[in-house]
Amino acid sequence: MKAVIISGSERRFGITSAVSQRTSSLLKTYGVETIIVHLNEIDLSPCNGCGNGNSDCNYRTEPCEKNDGLPAIIDLMIKAHIIIYATPVHAFGVCHLMQIFLERAGVGYLRFERPLANKIGGCVVIGRKYHLGHAHDQIVNNMLLNRMIVPGAGFPVLIHGDENIKDIKDIEEEVALEQMVNRLVNIHDSIDFQKLSQNWENERKLKMIKENIK
Ligand SMILES: Cc1cc2nc3c(=O)[nH]c(=O)nc-3n(C[C@H](O)[C@H](O)[C@H](O)COP(=O)(O)O)c2cc1C
Repeated sequence: MKAVIISGSERRFGITSAVSQRTSSLLKTYGVETIIVHLNEIDLSPCNGCGNGNSDCNYRTEPCEKNDGLPAIIDLMIKAHIIIYATPVHAFGVCHLMQIFLERAGVGYLRFERPLANKIGGCVVIGRKYHLGHAHDQIVNNMLLNRMIVPGAGFPVLIHGDENIKDIKDIEEEVALEQMVNRLVNIHDSIDFQKLSQNWENERKLKMIKENIK
């Protein structure tokens, strides 16, 4: 089994990085081969006004043309069985690297074929105090949009990181992370993926078909 952790912090050695490492170690105890993608190490540019008129980003019919580090991450995710998003909270939402990643990956690549369908997804949010749940909701909505399977595992993994130790301080938060990793692996092991459909009709196409019938 393979897992990818998308670690969104701008700080390479901050709390998100430490928690991603801890998550990777937990996955390895289940024999899961794990890669951490540190977005701060990737050449990742934001969406901008490429294209014009009807051919601009949200209306393109082909994947994004930008030649940066993103396509390689998409490939890693497609090859993985488990995908975990780890993000700090910045300004009451996900940090800007994670926001760029979600926008570019979603609009630029994933919306065409939904290649992450049936991947098992988890989310870890790191913040000082405010609106961690808001960032969690945003990531979960993105996983659900991509038709991923997001298992409940107890309390959401919302980590009020300790800047002195640059790690988790609260035992309940530690338990939440351990439970989430356990559930991700267990759910993956229990699903008969042959029985799950991989042929998703794109929702935009379905909308067009319905519009044409009317
Ligand atoms: C620009 C910025 C904005 C932040 N906004 C929030 C916030 O809205 N809510 C919160 O609880 N913490 C906020 N924090 C604190 C970070 O979430 C916290 O320090 C976290 O550990 C950062 O992750 P890192 O250690 O991986 O850098 C903010 C930090 C920065 C640098």
